[in-house]
Amino acid sequence: MENELISKTIDFVKLKLKNAEAGHDWFHIERVWKLSKKIAENEDGDLEIIELGALLHDIADPKFHNGDEELALKISRDFLESQNLEDVKIKKVLFIIKNISFKNRNEKAEISIENPVKELQIVQDADHLDAIGAIGIARTFNFGGFKNNKMYDPEILPKLKMSKEEYKKSDGTTINHFYEKLLLLKDLMNTETAKKIASKRHDFMENFLNEFLQEWDVKI
Ligand code: ADP
Ligand code: NI
Repeated sequence: MENELISKTIDFVKLKLKNAEAGHDWFHIERVWKLSKKIAENEDGDLEIIELGALLHDIADPKFHNGDEELALKISRDFLESQNLEDVKIKKVLFIIKNISFKNRNEKAEISIENPVKELQIVQDADHLDAIGAIGIARTFNFGGFKNNKMYDPEILPKLKMSKEEYKKSDGTTINHFYEKLLLLKDLMNTETAKKIASKRHDFMENFLNEFLQEWDVKI
């Protein structure tokens, strides 16, 4: 049984994400939450902070909120304060939400006692694992469809060195997203547990891409 704060948070997140795009909906959160708990079994880290960080990490993704990077922090703070969580714990959860994103990977997070690096690393691994493998492929095509992007265009090449701003604006093809992000995630995993899971999921994506490109060129 979960504690009461966790079940209240689950209800809050489900309600907030009721109409979310299928790649960033409650089920994405549920998978990241479960993966975080699985990774945490082999790591040190405060489970309450990990669970709250996982549950709230996409409460207001900037790409669905006009690029607003503060909104998720505000919504999470207001919610956790309404639940009377201690301020020092709230700060730790907000640190995870602020620093989890792939597009912020080059901005070094400030480390301090209030900033729980281990907990961030665990939730980030879980979020990145849900971006790869079979689920990752499905989420990516769903998002591409949602944005009305092309699946693939042999004339549009992947951009491997995009700045954060370019990445956010990118309306490249869905296949290019594999080269611009998904295939890079395996080497960004923080924990040993996640590295093992990532390796299998990565191989599956490589196979998928090989098949996709062969079928595209009618080679099979
Ligand atoms: P993060 O949430 O770590 O910052 P993103 O917001 O870039 O990462 O992406 C989250 C997920 O949304 C990706 O793993 C992918 O499934 C989907 N996604 C994001 N950008 C694109 C894109 N340009 N094309 C297809 N899918 C995308
Ligand atoms: Ni996420």
